[in-house]
Amino acid sequence: MTHTTQKRLFIKTYGCQMNVYDSERMKDVLAPLGYTSVDAPDDADLVLLNTCHIREKATEKVFSELGQLKRMKQSSGGKMLIGVTGCVAQAEGEEIMRRQPAVDLVLGPQAYHKLPEMIARVHRAAKERLETEFEVEEKFDALPSDRQADGPTAFLSVQEGCDKFCSFCVVPYTRGAEFSRPVDAIVAEARSLIRQGVREINLLGQNVNAFHGPAPVLEGGDDWNLAQLIRHLAKIDGLERIRFTTSHPRDMDDDLIAAFGDTPKLMPYLHLPVQAGSDNILKAMNRGHTAEHYIDIIDRIRAVRPDIAITSDFIVGFPGESDADFEDTMKIVERIDYAAAYSFKYSRRPGTPAADMFAQVPEEVKDERLQRLQALIREQQTAFNQSQVGKVLPVLVTGKARNEGQMAGRTPYLQATHFECDEDLTGQIVNVRIEKATLNSVGGQLADVPETVI
Ligand code: 5AD
Ligand code: SF4
Repeated sequence: MTHTTQKRLFIKTYGCQMNVYDSERMKDVLAPLGYTSVDAPDDADLVLLNTCHIREKATEKVFSELGQLKRMKQSSGGKMLIGVTGCVAQAEGEEIMRRQPAVDLVLGPQAYHKLPEMIARVHRAAKERLETEFEVEEKFDALPSDRQADGPTAFLSVQEGCDKFCSFCVVPYTRGAEFSRPVDAIVAEARSLIRQGVREINLLGQNVNAFHGPAPVLEGGDDWNLAQLIRHLAKIDGLERIRFTTSHPRDMDDDLIAAFGDTPKLMPYLHLPVQAGSDNILKAMNRGHTAEHYIDIIDRIRAVRPDIAITSDFIVGFPGESDADFEDTMKIVERIDYAAAYSFKYSRRPGTPAADMFAQVPEEVKDERLQRLQALIREQQTAFNQSQVGKVLPVLVTGKARNEGQMAGRTPYLQATHFECDEDLTGQIVNVRIEKATLNSVGGQLADVPETVI
């Protein structure tokens, strides 16, 4: 092969952790072609917008960003290539090509391994520019396994897609059917990350607790559940912390609940979206669980791991949501007492069942409900952070903090932490005595005590 010339790549990532992960993989795929990442689109040879389709606003942002990129492309004399990847590409590929002719390539989430080929095609001005077919298995097989770690924490994709068809959600249409990676492939990637200094792995999947990947042949080769995968990964030396996201209440099986009690490397943190507190709304959402079922799961997890931090997603203003339904959402938040939560106004996504439901909730009502819900969540989040004050927590140091003379890291509960320290302790787990807490972080001092087991 002839030598590759250096080219500049700018990827802008929207939306979920899966997209963040995919963007990293795209960088890996493009590195052998001479692409290095830059942190602004100006002068880039290739700009990729890795998009999110989950709410309407996210989609509109992509089109306005493309308008700006078009001007940059013109001033580059047409040299800049523009690609749209991710879920908007999957759902609206043809619409993008029609609305914004400056776009050179459109690629769905299952086709990233074909990026180099697509770029070559664009260079040859080939006609075929759309590649949004679902080919999940092929995607996992075809991506390079020697990915570059970036710091002591890493995401590792173990499952993709979703078969739940919540009535508001585009994911089952954009990300396709549920699929789990084989355990061997996951372990190989984990080991490679750990060799590069990773100490915390966050197992990633749209429906991660529906994981059912084939076990290694030596272990029998049957499908394993997520708890089995976690216990297996926990045996790897050098890996100190395991997390997983995002889970569905319906797949929270007994084994996974037990793992929070019996696997110390599994961190005391669970993101378990409930979406709403009213059984009527949960039913209309096609969630397949009731409020009581959800509360029961949390109670059982807290029985084996009392200090666990629970977080959730909420949607307010789902079609037909009455005042009383919304009060049920407030009640479940009171009952669970969250460490943090994301909340969104319902956004109509054409093609999903809820988009055609009658009784869409007026915007002002959604606004008011969102404000009340977010105020309650902020209160709980602040209280959760403050409940750590006075404790000594093991903090995984992730890098320098913004303030001079401080390092930053994460507690087991995933709280952003900063503490005074002149030495670069990145990658170490140190004890920090928590002295203060705000809505978004905790802060303290290095504590000279033996490592606390939490
Ligand atoms: N409108 C508002 N929020 C949505 N989410 C998914 N689809 C929609 C929608 N149509 C939220 C859910 C999900 C999170 C990732 O995004 O709360 O858990
Ligand atoms: Fe969307 Fe529901 Fe699947 Fe989550 S579980 S990705 S909200 S359909």
